[in-house]
Amino acid sequence: MVGEPANFQAWDTDLILATLPRSGTLWLKSLSFATINRTRYPTSSKEHPLLTTSPHDLVPFLEFKHLYGSNSFPDFTKFQSPRVLAVHVPYHSLAESIKNTPNCKIVYLCRNPKDNFISIWQFQNRLKAAKNVNDPEPLPIEEALDLFCHGVSLYGPFWDHLLGYWKESLEKPEKVLFLKYEDMMKDPKPHLKRLAEFSGYPFSLEEENEGVLDEILGLSSFDLLKNLDVNKDGITGFNVQNKIFFRKGEVGDWKNHLTPLMAERVDRLIEEKLHGSGLVFSN
Ligand code: A3P
Repeated sequence: MVGEPANFQAWDTDLILATLPRSGTLWLKSLSFATINRTRYPTSSKEHPLLTTSPHDLVPFLEFKHLYGSNSFPDFTKFQSPRVLAVHVPYHSLAESIKNTPNCKIVYLCRNPKDNFISIWQFQNRLKAAKNVNDPEPLPIEEALDLFCHGVSLYGPFWDHLLGYWKESLEKPEKVLFLKYEDMMKDPKPHLKRLAEFSGYPFSLEEENEGVLDEILGLSSFDLLKNLDVNKDGITGFNVQNKIFFRKGEVGDWKNHLTPLMAERVDRLIEEKLHGSGLVFSN
């Protein structure tokens, strides 16, 4: 059920977005879709697809067969190039064709561990409540943190997921672009430019002067995405309302949930796991 279709064949024009859940996937999907398709869909258009459709539908996951109505993967060969597709799987589990197709590029977005943990924990509790499962009691944060620190997370331990893509981005910078949510939140434009250049769709000076970057950031803004009015019946296959994916969209919300001892535990663990890799988080 999880994992790309075994016969998935990457194209040289593909852009694959890789993230851990709750690390800004929807934001990255929206920024990438708007950037790469800006000739087909002008960013100033009142009919831009992002104004009416969830980025989860515009940039489908290569995994989760159950998300698609027929419980089988769509025929990705019918998609128009350039294809923008998404995965949550770790680097080592990616289809070989994604790794080996020379110009198929990968953008990885990660988030600082404490905020990512809080966002996942909150999301799981919100999902439980929304889906009316038999046991709607929220998972106590202590229990959730214990699991996280023991590497029991969706798609494997947090640190392994990051390190897999991080190492590839160092070895093959033309293949894997590694971004951090916090950096993008602080100063989104330079990162949007990097994303565009890396993907092979750099902004011209004229576009910059015309405000295309601002338009893309606007189309991808938290408020706009959260208030999309199209998914009353739920996004394809997820069976939940669009709003559930959006909570605060802030950096440092962990401070409202973790005790100093809990925060120190995560900091020490992550420091140890990432030691020597050159990958660091400051908050
Ligand atoms: P919080 O739970 O901290 O609010 P994903 O898309 O991978 O599920 O990530 C969800 C997280 O990204 C949530 O974080 C959500 O609020 C935040 N987010 C969603 N859209 C965003 C946007 N346009 N800009 C910034 N953050 C966004």
